[in-house]
Amino acid sequence: MSIRSARLDAVPLGPAHLDALAPVMADPRVGATMGGVHPRERVAAMLAANAAHQAAHGFGYWAWHERATGALVARGGLRHVVVGGRAEVEVGWLVVPERWGEGFATELGAAALAHGFGAVGLQRIVVYTLPGNARSRRVVEKLGFAYERDVVHAGLAHVLFARGPDGPPAGGPPRPPAGAG
Ligand SMILES: CC(C)(COP(=O)(O)OP(=O)(O)OC[C@H]1O[C@@H](n2cnc3c(N)ncnc32)[C@H](O)[C@@H]1OP(=O)(O)O)[C@@H](O)C(=O)NCCC(=O)NCCS
Repeated sequence: MSIRSARLDAVPLGPAHLDALAPVMADPRVGATMGGVHPRERVAAMLAANAAHQAAHGFGYWAWHERATGALVARGGLRHVVVGGRAEVEVGWLVVPERWGEGFATELGAAALAHGFGAVGLQRIVVYTLPGNARSRRVVEKLGFAYERDVVHAGLAHVLFARGPDGPPAGGPPRPPAGAG
């Protein structure tokens, strides 16, 4: 499914975006907060995985194009993940470095949240960042998330935030189902 925001049109992210995205994921400015730069083969694998996620769930990461120019300015959206030992849906964002500071991450994040809490009917969405990722943490704050807990993800310390359709969830993370764990 495709979605849009004030300045951006989004289409499901997939193998067709490899040539546009590979240089972005190889950029050290991006690698600094993404666990290192990603070689082209790894980007190709991520794009294939995202296409499968879209096919299975009807949502995933999208490629965000600026309507005025047609330029790809970001990738991001909603994804099922296991983080901090729990199955969650996360919102993620990544903007091409030349376009940082124009509000695109906040704009795509808001559109993805509206889609997740609206059409998809989610009750909880999380986001997690490296503790020192000040730009992303500012976006998290602007989108109304509340700090929930520290987690280790992909071997690195992260900070996990959560919110529900009406803002931060009260009372912390949901309990695991009875008998789980
Ligand atoms: C994080 C990222 C997506 C932000 O994208 P963006 O389009 O520049 O974000 P926005 O413009 O919507 O908002 C950025 C905010 O951070 C603020 N900011 C910029 N540099 C900052 C810094 N060094 N410290 C604190 N805040 C900073 C901006 O002023 C802005 O806040 P404001 O609107 O209150 O002024 C982008 O930097 C990126 O792609 N980074 C690499 C990938 C990544 O880390 N993704 C997130 C993984 S969790």
